[in-house]
Amino acid sequence: MASTCFLFLLVIVSVVNCLWQPTPSTTWTWQLQGTINTGKNVAVYDIDLFDAPVNTINQLKAAGKKIICYFSAGSYEEWRSDANTFPASVKGKNLDGWPGERWLDIRQIQTLGPIMSARLDLAKQKGCDCVEPDNVDAYTYGTSGTGFPLSYDDQRKYNIWLSQRAHERNLCIALKNDLSQIGDLLQYFDCAVNEQCWQYKECDKLLPFINANKAVFNCEYGTKPNCTQAIQKKISSIQATLDLDGTNMKMCNAQGQLVSF
Ligand SMILES: *[C@@H]1O[C@H](CO)[C@@H](O)[C@H](O)[C@H]1NC(C)=O
Repeated sequence: MASTCFLFLLVIVSVVNCLWQPTPSTTWTWQLQGTINTGKNVAVYDIDLFDAPVNTINQLKAAGKKIICYFSAGSYEEWRSDANTFPASVKGKNLDGWPGERWLDIRQIQTLGPIMSARLDLAKQKGCDCVEPDNVDAYTYGTSGTGFPLSYDDQRKYNIWLSQRAHERNLCIALKNDLSQIGDLLQYFDCAVNEQCWQYKECDKLLPFINANKAVFNCEYGTKPNCTQAIQKKISSIQATLDLDGTNMKMCNAQGQLVSF
């Protein structure tokens, strides 16, 4: 009787706990602007949480793709549909090079919590498998950069908070950049999304993810990824333009060549 119960529980747990955890070498594309090009021969689409039409998500999922939904967790973007829910007290300095975007005071989880939780609800509702909360390394920009004296620990707490809220919803969560906190955050994050590790020669900092059997999704802009090494290290490397509009994209194929896709 006891063992039947246990088996029953196991079945329940495995049905409920259907968190997707991408493994190393998984292929991906990243498109945050323009009409989503649904024709890419990759396993994962990373697309904008707010802008991606539900129809497109459904279409991609019907074709067997997994969906990562991008949103900014560390900055206020004035054009978003929920922009009016951010009080002035959490808005800091402008992000360099990103008009209409301001750093958030991530210490104020009481205030930001409901806003970010609503975004995660939206991700769940739209059928995302995973989320990519961006700008989660604000503390590295200093008080002069963000307008707030954010510490390593403030950032660590906020990022863990995000992970817990995502996992409560059975959403996988990617750690975006924030390389210097991988040691503390690896256990809370299911994969990594990285920009420019080849350019800055820091791809090896991401290997703890690979060693934990978690995908590393890397994108380069001006610099080519070293595909020989990418394939060897099982890093999922692509190259794109900074506007991430789905055009002019290249990927490292299994043979270690940089090819258009
Ligand atoms: C890529 O990495 C390989 C293996 O480490 C190395 O031999 C090669 O020179 C690198 N290629 C470029 C273009 O840097």
